[in-house]
Amino acid sequence: MSDFVRVAKVSEIPDPGKTVVEVDDALIALYHVNGAFYATDDVCTHDGGPLAEGELDGYAIVCPRHGAKFDIRTGKVLSMPATKDTRAHEVKVEGDDVYVRLNED
Ligand code: FES
Repeated sequence: MSDFVRVAKVSEIPDPGKTVVEVDDALIALYHVNGAFYATDDVCTHDGGPLAEGELDGYAIVCPRHGAKFDIRTGKVLSMPATKDTRAHEVKVEGDDVYVRLNED
């Protein structure tokens, strides 16, 4: 299992807001919603759209390419045209630092 990697400061990401970070060479979308942080692959399972460039809709991220939605808490696909879940990753906050650990499944 991979280790937690420090990716950002809490104060750098507005709430609600999102950004893209790099963890072990993977691009990860990091979301800040209602005081908590969540992370998924920055890759839409429909055609590779960059999820962190999409709009947040509550706990959903809307792919900027063709509008598929994913739950940022679980990676579950919520609407077409994507049909497969994206990966969600573990996030922890210590002080002002945000850490992500990749879920390798
Ligand atoms: S690439 Fe995301 S909906 Fe098509």
